[in-house]
Amino acid sequence: MNGKNKEAIRVLGIGGSLRKGSYSMAVLRAAGKLLPDGAKFEVADLSGIPIFNQDNELKPPQSVVKFKKQIREADAILFCTPEYNYGIPGYLKNAIDWASRPHGDNSFKDKPAAIISSSGGMFGGIKAQLQLREHFVYLDMHAVNDSIAVSNVEKKLDSDGELTDEYTIRRIKELLKELIEWTDRIAVEK
Ligand SMILES: Cc1cc2nc3c(=O)[nH]c(=O)nc-3n(C[C@H](O)[C@H](O)[C@H](O)COP(=O)(O)O)c2cc1C
Repeated sequence: MNGKNKEAIRVLGIGGSLRKGSYSMAVLRAAGKLLPDGAKFEVADLSGIPIFNQDNELKPPQSVVKFKKQIREADAILFCTPEYNYGIPGYLKNAIDWASRPHGDNSFKDKPAAIISSSGGMFGGIKAQLQLREHFVYLDMHAVNDSIAVSNVEKKLDSDGELTDEYTIRRIKELLKELIEWTDRIAVEK
């Protein structure tokens, strides 16, 4: 254990929706506010990332250069994704593909991560989580086993997009605590 200061942890939030009124992005922002005081949190902007084409991987666009830098500088990654057709949305997969390339320059390598999913349905996007975990294996990421699937998500947010559901708030706090402890456990001197 390298004793990294838990209060100074930098967490990068990666969301799976570009939708203006996105529920999952609202949950992600809410999670950021539930981190301990002093923790740094930012949400990656995937909106400018073009469709991946391997022909361009050695000359990535600025949006990808920025995304990869944000990942590298983060101590831990917090994903919050909706479920599209039992998987993660294409733009999230697309952003992950960019950040994993070129070969030997995978920005996600060794990063601790935690997963939240959300859905208007009763299963909370759990199948998208499982797909994301499969990607983590190839990406060499280390996810905490716990996760949260927020079902009926629109009922858990108020009209301003603030998370109001006490149970979900408590679960997110627990997950963040686990992520911070896990990050501290697996931190390595770079
Ligand atoms: C293309 C598409 C596929 C979807 N597939 C699923 C699904 O497999 N499971 C599910 O629970 N909801 C599914 N939904 C509903 C989404 O969970 C819902 O639209 C959600 O609000 C999207 O997340 P957002 O609010 O963060 O944009 C799908 C929605 C879209 C647009």
